[in-house]
Amino acid sequence: MKAYNEIFENNKKWVASKKATNKDFFKHLSEGQSPEVLYIGCSDSRVSAEEMTGMDPGEMFVHRNIANVVSNNDLSAASVIEYAVDVLQVKHVVVCGHYYCGGVLAAMKPQDLGILNPWLRNIRDVYRLHQAELDSISDEDAKYRRLVELNVQEQCINVIKTAVLQKHYLNTGFPNVHGWVFDIHTGELIDLKIDFDDKLKHIQEIYDLGKEINKK
Ligand code: CO
Repeated sequence: MKAYNEIFENNKKWVASKKATNKDFFKHLSEGQSPEVLYIGCSDSRVSAEEMTGMDPGEMFVHRNIANVVSNNDLSAASVIEYAVDVLQVKHVVVCGHYYCGGVLAAMKPQDLGILNPWLRNIRDVYRLHQAELDSISDEDAKYRRLVELNVQEQCINVIKTAVLQKHYLNTGFPNVHGWVFDIHTGELIDLKIDFDDKLKHIQEIYDLGKEINKK
């Protein structure tokens, strides 16, 4: 493990390497951002959003929390989604989970974790929605992996439930919502190929926020 005091040394080397390939790199960065991707992932230190996707500074707007949850009453996630979709006009919203996610594992265990209880309840809710499928998996490891995937799927649906996403998509055809899983064992990024149009259609049967209220 790197020592804490190496961080600023590393930063100096990084600045030098960026300037070596493009002397105006930081001047360009200071002029603004127009990322095409909003990435919502887990805070886990092993899942490094930019490094595993090869994205440079300025290319990806990032939000991370425990177990990549998009909770209805989380002002932070809601603000990130609103800003990314409405102001930055990202073309893609990605929810990225990962196998062996500690947050998902904690939600599978019967235990009181204090302030984490309401947060992990979001994942227990995912379990309840898919209980028949999950309970039919006898292998605990396979069940754990499947819950990671289903959690990604449900958090994608939570993104689709927002008014800003629905309105922008209906007006412009963007952004699309994607679900990914990072496989910690292999380093591979897996696209769950969530059928965005089908999910949107289904969601709008109940959570239709795409239309403006008639102004009097
Ligand atoms: Co995690």
